[in-house]
Amino acid sequence: MSSGSTPLDALDVISAGRYAESGYPYETWRRLRAEAPVHFVDRPHGQPFWALTRHEDITKISRDPRRFLNAPRLTVASDRGEIPLRMLLNMDPPEHHAYRTLVNKQFTPRALARITAQVDAIAAAILDELITDGAEREIDFVERVSSLLPIWVIAEMLGIPRDDWEKLFHWTNQIVGAGDPEYQVEGRTSIETMHEAQSGMFEYFSEMTEDRRKQPRDDLVSVLTNAAIDGAPLPTHELLSYYALLVLAGNETTRNATTGGMLALIENPDQFDRVRRDPSLVKPLVEEILRFTSPVVHFCRTPTEDFEMHGEKIRAGENLCLFYPSANRDERVFDAPDEFRIDRRPNRHIAFGIGEHVCLGAHVARLELQVIFRHLTERLEAVELAGPLERLRSSVVGGIKHMPIRYRLGPAKSAG
Ligand code: HEM
Repeated sequence: MSSGSTPLDALDVISAGRYAESGYPYETWRRLRAEAPVHFVDRPHGQPFWALTRHEDITKISRDPRRFLNAPRLTVASDRGEIPLRMLLNMDPPEHHAYRTLVNKQFTPRALARITAQVDAIAAAILDELITDGAEREIDFVERVSSLLPIWVIAEMLGIPRDDWEKLFHWTNQIVGAGDPEYQVEGRTSIETMHEAQSGMFEYFSEMTEDRRKQPRDDLVSVLTNAAIDGAPLPTHELLSYYALLVLAGNETTRNATTGGMLALIENPDQFDRVRRDPSLVKPLVEEILRFTSPVVHFCRTPTEDFEMHGEKIRAGENLCLFYPSANRDERVFDAPDEFRIDRRPNRHIAFGIGEHVCLGAHVARLELQVIFRHLTERLEAVELAGPLERLRSSVVGGIKHMPIRYRLGPAKSAG
């Protein structure tokens, strides 16, 4: 469909259905990077927007947060409304900085060193359930592995009791995957589904906030509940939005990096063998997984003034759409960008964005991915696909909903 002869205006980079059916439009992005790096997309349904596809341009815009705002519009996906949250991702300077510094300290590598052992134990426990004792077994890798780790880790950081992790998991799926029929509540539209899930989550966190006001603990909910900006506590909506953001942002994204990473290893057995033989390659493996899978498809920026880029005149208030996975396959930055090479150095991917809004949870995600892939490469004796993939219906977070695998898995090395 996106062959070299299709007119640029007929190429589709935004419909959720396209992502569900065939995954990321790499060939389309490649053409846009080459022929129209700033390309205007007008469509009968949904907001018109400028598609930005080159690494350098996306970096430049992201590093100029006073001229290119987040607040007016975060995505141009037409299958969902704007998530009605007031949170980091749709705040601008100087407010954004004030909110971000409240928890920055909790997300540094030094702070995370404290939870490394817990993350390791969670990953080991997930895989212990799947030991095959030399036999072969089939599972949905998403359901049994990649969807569990991120929600358990963020739930632990927030201070949510284990019994409630499942509830949190469902709300997250319904909000992030609102346009996908699998997560839609029967008899409700996607927007209604999303709003109901949000209310459920808000109610839950309201109660938790009350509790932590009276009895602060060593968790993120206590930090935010008792935080102040210019001497005043956070307004309720902003506080609840903050929790929701932390849950939502880290869940689907890390899940899809894990699934996509496993798929890349299955499809590149030579790379899989290398990291099995040399565990010191797990860190660069994770960076390559992030580049290669780039789970966030796009976020928007809105210019405060008219400007020109690659000869196109862009007006204040128009939508700029930053396609991170395209930047991460930009041949101007990466050699053989479509190859999965675990020893790529340097690896200047921007899967976490860049600049003012660069992912707050990047170190959390890296830690989770390093831990799970260390366990997987150590313990998987064999693995292959056991059926077709099913992809998420979304042009915001790209991902795999189901990935059946056939595998053999041994016990943890330390367990003998
Ligand atoms: C592989 C996993 C992840 C990917 C690919 C990812 C990607 C991103 C991207 C692209 C942005 C926007 C950057 C920009 O606009 O410049 C972002 C922001 C954010 N992410 Fe992540 N993320 C991941 C995991 C996480 C985790 C685990 C958490 C929390 C524990 C998290 C929390 C956040 C937050 C709070 C923001 C907003 C930051 C701001 O606006 O200042 N993310 N992430």
